Amino acid sequence: MKFFLDTADVDAIRHWNETGLVDGVTTNPSLILKSGRDITEVLKEICDIVQGPVSGEVAATEYDAMLEEGRTLAKIADNICIKLPTTMDGIRACNVLTNEGEMVNMTLCFTANQALLAAKAGATFISPFIGRLDDIGLDGMELIEEIRAIYDNYVYDTEILAASIRTVNHVKDCALAGADVGTMPPSTIEQLVKHPLTDSGLEKFLADWKETGQSI
Ligand code: G3P
Repeated sequence: MKFFLDTADVDAIRHWNETGLVDGVTTNPSLILKSGRDITEVLKEICDIVQGPVSGEVAATEYDAMLEEGRTLAKIADNICIKLPTTMDGIRACNVLTNEGEMVNMTLCFTANQALLAAKAGATFISPFIGRLDDIGLDGMELIEEIRAIYDNYVYDTEILAASIRTVNHVKDCALAGADVGTMPPSTIEQLVKHPLTDSGLEKFLADWKETGQSI
């Protein structure tokens, strides 16, 4: 499963990119606001750090304006992926922009039917928001499973980019369900490796090794 960082924090992206674990980056208007930076400048800097797809989201909601903003974002770098909301205007714009050879990430997906439309429109990625469905008592993982089954039925190329990931269990469950990508905050990636038995076991090994008086 590919890991994308869900942040516009360049320092965090630079740090995690050096681990070799980062396959791409996703941003959205809220993350750009949090960064306090100009969208074009911060996306350019991120695209210079990460080789994989970097999602930048349009602000327009109407078809023509989405096309104009999408084409503007695409000029920032070759690895820019245009992020469009999964509305009918977004679906129509996705069709045009993918036919122009651009990568498109359809975001704010909350149903399998939205994902089906995105695949038919040639989307590169579909972003089902797991955490926000869980927040209202629905089952975000069920959506990932439904989309996986539908995409496999028709061999759609669109990649499932599991988003709104909040916990390490979301990451594990997405991998089990066959999501192609998980986009997550840096803090979640950091938690993936942690286990108290690993820490205590290592501490014991090091103590016993010290007792041997040996060195390698
Ligand atoms: O960036 C898209 C998605 O990952 C947002 O997550 O936690 O704001 O629902 P969240």
